[in-house]
Amino acid sequence: MTQDEMKKKVAEAALAYVKAGTIVGVGTGSTANMFIDALAGMKDEIVGAVASSEATAARLAGHGIPVMDLNEALTRVDSLSVYIDGADEFDPGLNLTKGGGGALTREKIVAAASDSFVCIVDESKKVEHLGAFPLPIEVIPMARELVAAVASKLGGTPVLRSGFTTDNGNLIIDVHGLKVTDARALEDHLNSVPGVVTNGIFSHQGADVVLMGTPSGVETIR
Ligand code: 5RP
Repeated sequence: MTQDEMKKKVAEAALAYVKAGTIVGVGTGSTANMFIDALAGMKDEIVGAVASSEATAARLAGHGIPVMDLNEALTRVDSLSVYIDGADEFDPGLNLTKGGGGALTREKIVAAASDSFVCIVDESKKVEHLGAFPLPIEVIPMARELVAAVASKLGGTPVLRSGFTTDNGNLIIDVHGLKVTDARALEDHLNSVPGVVTNGIFSHQGADVVLMGTPSGVETIR
Protein backbone atom coordinates (compact mmCIF):
# COMPACT_ATOMS: atom_id res chain seq x y z
CA MET A 1 0.00 0.00 0.00
CA THR A 2 1.36 3.46 -0.84
CA GLN A 3 1.55 6.30 1.71
CA ASP A 4 -1.36 8.03 -0.05
CA GLU A 5 -3.47 4.86 0.11
CA MET A 6 -2.80 4.62 3.87
CA LYS A 7 -3.78 8.29 4.29
CA LYS A 8 -6.99 7.67 2.36
CA LYS A 9 -7.89 4.69 4.57
CA VAL A 10 -7.49 6.69 7.81
CA ALA A 11 -9.35 9.65 6.32
CA GLU A 12 -12.29 7.37 5.54
CA ALA A 13 -12.07 5.67 8.95
CA ALA A 14 -12.37 9.08 10.63
CA LEU A 15 -15.93 9.42 9.29
CA ALA A 16 -16.99 7.02 12.07
CA TYR A 17 -16.22 9.84 14.56
CA VAL A 18 -18.44 12.39 12.81
CA LYS A 19 -21.80 12.69 14.54
CA ALA A 20 -24.89 13.66 12.56
CA GLY A 21 -26.35 17.06 13.42
CA THR A 22 -23.08 18.53 14.75
CA ILE A 23 -20.42 21.02 13.71
CA VAL A 24 -17.07 19.41 12.87
CA GLY A 25 -13.59 20.95 13.17
CA VAL A 26 -11.42 20.24 10.16
CA GLY A 27 -7.62 20.34 9.91
CA THR A 28 -5.14 21.19 7.19
CA GLY A 29 -2.77 19.17 4.99
CA SER A 30 -2.84 16.28 2.55
CA THR A 31 -4.45 13.81 4.98
CA ALA A 32 -7.03 16.36 6.11
CA ASN A 33 -7.78 17.03 2.43
CA MET A 34 -8.60 13.35 1.96
CA PHE A 35 -10.86 13.57 5.01
CA ILE A 36 -12.65 16.58 3.49
CA ASP A 37 -13.21 14.62 0.28
CA ALA A 38 -14.68 11.75 2.30
CA LEU A 39 -16.78 14.13 4.44
CA ALA A 40 -18.44 15.40 1.26
CA GLY A 41 -20.43 12.15 1.21
CA MET A 42 -21.93 13.08 4.61
CA LYS A 43 -22.45 16.79 3.97
CA ASP A 44 -26.22 16.62 4.35
CA GLU A 45 -25.90 14.97 7.78
CA ILE A 46 -23.77 17.67 9.49
CA VAL A 47 -24.63 21.26 10.37
CA GLY A 48 -21.31 22.49 9.04
CA ALA A 49 -17.55 22.61 9.50
CA VAL A 50 -15.06 25.02 11.05
CA ALA A 51 -11.85 25.23 9.03
CA SER A 52 -8.33 25.51 10.44
CA SER A 53 -7.00 27.38 7.38
CA GLU A 54 -8.08 29.32 4.31
CA ALA A 55 -7.05 26.35 2.15
CA THR A 56 -9.29 23.99 4.12
CA ALA A 57 -12.18 26.48 4.00
CA ALA A 58 -11.85 26.63 0.21
CA ARG A 59 -11.79 22.84 -0.15
CA LEU A 60 -14.81 22.40 2.15
CA ALA A 61 -16.73 25.06 0.24
CA GLY A 62 -15.77 23.43 -3.06
CA HIS A 63 -17.62 20.32 -1.90
CA GLY A 64 -20.65 22.35 -0.83
CA ILE A 65 -19.97 21.74 2.88
CA PRO A 66 -21.17 24.77 4.89
CA VAL A 67 -18.11 26.55 6.35
CA MET A 68 -18.71 28.31 9.64
CA ASP A 69 -16.62 30.89 11.42
CA LEU A 70 -15.54 29.55 14.83
CA ASN A 71 -17.03 32.49 16.70
CA GLU A 72 -20.34 32.03 14.91
CA ALA A 73 -20.27 28.29 15.65
CA LEU A 74 -19.65 28.87 19.35
CA THR A 75 -22.71 31.09 19.61
CA ARG A 76 -24.76 28.06 18.51
CA VAL A 77 -23.04 25.24 20.40
CA ASP A 78 -20.81 25.00 23.49
CA SER A 79 -18.14 23.10 21.57
CA LEU A 80 -17.49 21.38 18.26
CA SER A 81 -18.16 17.63 18.44
CA VAL A 82 -14.81 16.55 17.03
CA TYR A 83 -11.64 17.91 15.45
CA ILE A 84 -10.08 15.79 12.72
CA ASP A 85 -6.59 16.57 11.46
CA GLY A 86 -3.24 15.08 10.50
CA ALA A 87 0.11 15.56 12.23
CA ASP A 88 3.80 15.61 11.42
CA GLU A 89 4.71 13.34 14.35
CA PHE A 90 3.03 11.64 17.30
CA ASP A 91 4.59 10.04 20.37
CA PRO A 92 3.29 7.25 22.66
CA GLY A 93 1.58 9.85 24.90
CA LEU A 94 -0.28 11.15 21.79
CA ASN A 95 1.59 14.45 21.95
CA LEU A 96 1.92 15.82 18.42
CA THR A 97 4.15 18.02 16.32
CA LYS A 98 2.05 19.99 13.85
CA GLY A 99 2.47 22.97 11.57
CA GLY A 100 4.26 21.46 8.59
CA GLY A 101 1.62 23.29 6.55
CA GLY A 102 1.94 26.44 8.67
CA ALA A 103 -1.62 26.32 10.02
CA LEU A 104 -0.66 25.42 13.60
CA THR A 105 -2.29 28.36 15.39
CA ARG A 106 -5.73 27.99 13.87
CA GLU A 107 -5.40 24.21 14.21
CA LYS A 108 -4.70 24.55 17.93
CA ILE A 109 -7.61 26.95 18.38
CA VAL A 110 -10.10 24.67 16.62
CA ALA A 111 -8.75 21.63 18.50
CA ALA A 112 -9.22 23.51 21.80
CA ALA A 113 -12.82 24.28 20.85
CA SER A 114 -13.62 20.60 20.19
CA ASP A 115 -14.73 17.79 22.49
CA SER A 116 -12.17 15.39 21.05
CA PHE A 117 -9.27 15.31 18.61
CA VAL A 118 -9.04 12.43 16.16
CA CYS A 119 -5.62 12.47 14.52
CA ILE A 120 -5.23 10.77 11.14
CA VAL A 121 -1.76 9.72 10.03
CA ASP A 122 0.18 7.10 8.15
CA GLU A 123 2.67 5.01 10.08
CA SER A 124 5.66 7.20 9.07
CA LYS A 125 4.48 9.76 11.67
CA LYS A 126 5.04 7.49 14.69
CA VAL A 127 8.07 8.40 16.87
CA GLU A 128 9.35 7.57 20.36
CA HIS A 129 10.16 11.25 21.07
CA LEU A 130 9.06 14.36 19.17
CA GLY A 131 11.84 16.35 17.53
CA ALA A 132 12.85 14.49 14.38
CA PHE A 133 10.48 16.81 12.49
CA PRO A 134 11.58 20.49 12.72
CA LEU A 135 9.35 22.26 15.23
CA PRO A 136 7.35 25.12 13.64
CA ILE A 137 6.84 28.28 15.69
CA GLU A 138 4.49 31.03 14.48
CA VAL A 139 5.97 34.41 15.41
CA ILE A 140 4.96 38.03 15.06
CA PRO A 141 7.51 39.45 12.54
CA MET A 142 9.04 41.91 15.04
CA ALA A 143 9.97 39.04 17.40
CA ARG A 144 11.76 36.89 14.77
CA GLU A 145 15.31 37.28 16.07
CA LEU A 146 14.28 37.15 19.73
CA VAL A 147 12.50 33.83 19.24
CA ALA A 148 15.33 32.44 17.09
CA ALA A 149 17.79 33.22 19.89
CA VAL A 150 15.63 31.36 22.43
CA ALA A 151 15.45 28.34 20.11
CA SER A 152 19.24 28.36 19.69
CA LYS A 153 19.72 28.48 23.47
CA LEU A 154 17.60 25.34 23.70
CA GLY A 155 20.05 23.58 21.36
CA GLY A 156 18.00 23.88 18.18
CA THR A 157 18.81 25.42 14.82
CA PRO A 158 16.14 27.97 13.85
CA VAL A 159 15.40 28.42 10.15
CA LEU A 160 12.99 31.07 8.89
CA ARG A 161 10.44 29.47 6.51
CA SER A 162 11.33 31.32 3.35
CA GLY A 163 8.66 33.26 1.47
CA PHE A 164 5.90 32.03 3.78
CA THR A 165 3.28 34.09 5.61
CA THR A 166 0.63 32.42 7.77
CA ASP A 167 -3.10 33.01 7.37
CA ASN A 168 -2.68 35.33 10.38
CA GLY A 169 0.00 37.45 8.65
CA ASN A 170 2.91 36.08 10.68
CA LEU A 171 6.18 34.19 10.09
CA ILE A 172 7.15 30.58 10.77
CA ILE A 173 10.49 29.60 12.30
CA ASP A 174 11.25 25.88 11.90
CA VAL A 175 13.54 24.66 14.67
CA HIS A 176 15.73 21.72 13.67
CA GLY A 177 17.52 19.32 15.99
CA LEU A 178 15.56 19.84 19.20
CA LYS A 179 15.57 16.93 21.64
CA VAL A 180 12.06 16.89 23.07
CA THR A 181 12.19 15.03 26.38
CA ASP A 182 9.20 16.81 27.95
CA ALA A 183 6.73 17.90 25.27
CA ARG A 184 4.38 19.71 27.67
CA ALA A 185 7.20 21.73 29.28
CA LEU A 186 8.68 22.72 25.92
CA GLU A 187 5.28 23.76 24.58
CA ASP A 188 4.74 25.97 27.63
CA HIS A 189 8.28 27.38 27.61
CA LEU A 190 8.19 28.44 23.96
CA ASN A 191 4.70 29.89 24.28
CA SER A 192 5.91 32.07 27.15
CA VAL A 193 8.30 33.99 24.87
CA PRO A 194 6.78 37.35 23.88
CA GLY A 195 6.05 37.40 20.15
CA VAL A 196 5.38 33.67 19.89
CA VAL A 197 1.82 33.16 18.70
CA THR A 198 2.04 29.44 19.30
CA ASN A 199 4.38 26.54 18.63
CA GLY A 200 3.68 23.25 16.89
CA ILE A 201 3.80 21.02 19.95
CA PHE A 202 0.27 19.84 20.69
CA SER A 203 0.51 18.46 24.21
CA HIS A 204 -2.26 20.48 25.86
CA GLN A 205 -4.26 19.83 22.68
CA GLY A 206 -2.87 16.34 22.05
CA ALA A 207 -4.85 13.67 20.25
CA ASP A 208 -7.53 11.64 22.03
CA VAL A 209 -7.32 8.97 19.33
CA VAL A 210 -4.77 8.38 16.59
CA LEU A 211 -5.91 6.46 13.52
CA MET A 212 -2.70 5.17 11.97
CA GLY A 213 -2.60 3.76 8.47
CA THR A 214 -0.40 0.68 8.03
CA PRO A 215 -0.03 -1.72 5.09
CA SER A 216 -2.34 -4.15 6.92
CA GLY A 217 -5.06 -1.64 7.77
CA VAL A 218 -6.01 1.12 10.20
CA GLU A 219 -4.70 0.88 13.76
CA THR A 220 -6.57 2.76 16.52
CA ILE A 221 -4.27 4.09 19.24
CA ARG A 222 -5.64 5.66 22.45
C1 5RP B 1 -0.53 21.53 8.85
C2 5RP B 1 -0.36 20.32 9.72
C3 5RP B 1 -0.59 19.00 9.09
O1 5RP B 1 -1.52 18.31 9.86
C4 5RP B 1 0.69 18.23 9.06
O2 5RP B 1 1.67 19.00 8.39
C5 5RP B 1 0.52 16.88 8.36
O3 5RP B 1 0.25 17.08 7.02
P1 5RP B 1 0.03 15.88 6.00
O4 5RP B 1 -1.29 15.26 6.32
O5 5RP B 1 0.08 16.54 4.65
O6 5RP B 1 1.17 14.90 6.20
O7 5RP B 1 -0.05 20.40 10.88
O8 5RP B 1 -0.21 22.70 9.54
